[in-house]
Amino acid sequence: MQIFLDTGSVKEVERAAAFGVLDGVTTNPSLIAKEGKDFHQTIKVICKIVNGPVSAEVVNTNTEGMIKEAKQLVKLGKNVVVKIPLIPEGIKAVKQLSKQGIKVNVTLCFSPNQALLAAKAGAWCVSPFVGRLDDIGQTGIDMVHEIRQIYNNYNFKTKILFASTRSSEHVKQAALIGADICTMPYAVFEKLFHHPLTDSGLKKFLDDWNAFKKKGSHIS
Ligand code: E4P
Repeated sequence: MQIFLDTGSVKEVERAAAFGVLDGVTTNPSLIAKEGKDFHQTIKVICKIVNGPVSAEVVNTNTEGMIKEAKQLVKLGKNVVVKIPLIPEGIKAVKQLSKQGIKVNVTLCFSPNQALLAAKAGAWCVSPFVGRLDDIGQTGIDMVHEIRQIYNNYNFKTKILFASTRSSEHVKQAALIGADICTMPYAVFEKLFHHPLTDSGLKKFLDDWNAFKKKGSHIS
């Protein structure tokens, strides 16, 4: 499963990229607005740091406007993937952009039927928002299971990008289901590294080693 960072922060992208396990980035208008920097400039910079897909979202809501905006966004970097919302006008735009070879991430997906439409329109990936379904008392993970089954049934090539990830448990579930990609905030990404037994185990190894050395060993 590919690991993407869900952020509008260049610093977070730099930090995550330094580990060598980051496969891409997703942004959205809220995340970019939170940083208070120029949208196009931010995408350009992120595209240079990351050797993988970087999703940039359109803000138009009519088909023609989305297509026009998409064509400007792809000029920001060769790895830009255009994010289009899963609304009827959006699906029309996805169909046309996909036919022209532009990679589209269909965002704001909350049902398997919406994911079916995204795949039929030729989307490169679909983003089911798991955490936001959990927030309204549904089980977001069930939606991803169902999308996986539908895509497998018909051999759709559209990737499943597990989004609105709130915990490391979500990341594990994404991988178990067979999501192609999981995008997560930096705080969740950081948690993937940690386990208390790793920390205590390492401390014990080093304490034992230092005690042994103090006694004066003759290791060649
Ligand atoms: C995905 O591309 C979205 O940017 C994101 O996952 C939304 O997550 P949120 O529900 O935490 O805002």
